[in-house]
Amino acid sequence: MPLVGLSELLRPAREAGYGIAAFNVFNVESVRAVIDAAEAEEAPVILMTGANDLAATGEAYLGELAVRAAERARVPVCVHLDHSKSFDLVMRCIRMGYTSVMIDGSHLPFDENVALTRRVVEAAHAAGVDVEAELGQVLRGKHTMVDRQSQLTDPDAAAQLVRQTGVDALAVAIGTAHGLYDIPPQLDFARLERIAALCDVPLVMHGGTGTPDDAIQRAIALGMVKVNVGTQLRKDFIEAFVSAAGSSGVDVRKPLAAAREAMQRTAADRMRVFGAAGRAVRPRG
Ligand code: 13P
Repeated sequence: MPLVGLSELLRPAREAGYGIAAFNVFNVESVRAVIDAAEAEEAPVILMTGANDLAATGEAYLGELAVRAAERARVPVCVHLDHSKSFDLVMRCIRMGYTSVMIDGSHLPFDENVALTRRVVEAAHAAGVDVEAELGQVLRGKHTMVDRQSQLTDPDAAAQLVRQTGVDALAVAIGTAHGLYDIPPQLDFARLERIAALCDVPLVMHGGTGTPDDAIQRAIALGMVKVNVGTQLRKDFIEAFVSAAGSSGVDVRKPLAAAREAMQRTAADRMRVFGAAGRAVRPRG
């Protein structure tokens, strides 16, 4: 099954009202866990590599791994660069074969966010690659509720950014946060409805970890299509690895396998909860 573009996965999902899980992968086990889960669930999926994870692992190691694994998968897989603030990193990932990139100008003043996003859209579209942007800021779970709520996306500004940039998907802040929550999230569904009514592109939820399933499902029904999950896989990896490592001496394979299986269970569960299970188009032959 080929590596597919972001829009190829998100457009049909938006029409049919299901969500596509996008997982932050960071090593061989996480890449394989997500693909194995997607194949078992017959679900389309997005493999994301964050700018920080690429820097930590070495860009080519993780990037090439994700692209090669996606090319061999039996379900449609999009390989996406998550949270890049750098035009140059976007270009390097496109050259590696990524089919989607996020340019994150959410920390910039609106006009600068638009200008950076537009520059990336022009270059990426010329290479046939889709682009996600962010407006408003999805902060971290440890930030105070007041801080988090102060960065929510303005619906009119979101519509303006989409019009002015030609972006393919938009990450919006409606009350979720990255990482583990100190204070549980409160999602602003009315805001999401207004954004979805004004923006003709699939919307992206960041901060999928720890956001209650019923809130995610309601958000999907209102127009969120791509749902990012990162922290949960890293937590699964560490907990399963540490627990299995205790009894396996210097055998590294057992804890790695335990970690992979734990991440695969989470990935499969997310695909079912978001409604993507069974949505993969079967390969011919
Ligand atoms: P979590 O780590 O909270 O799941 O968020 C992931 C994310 O949004 C990556 O962009």
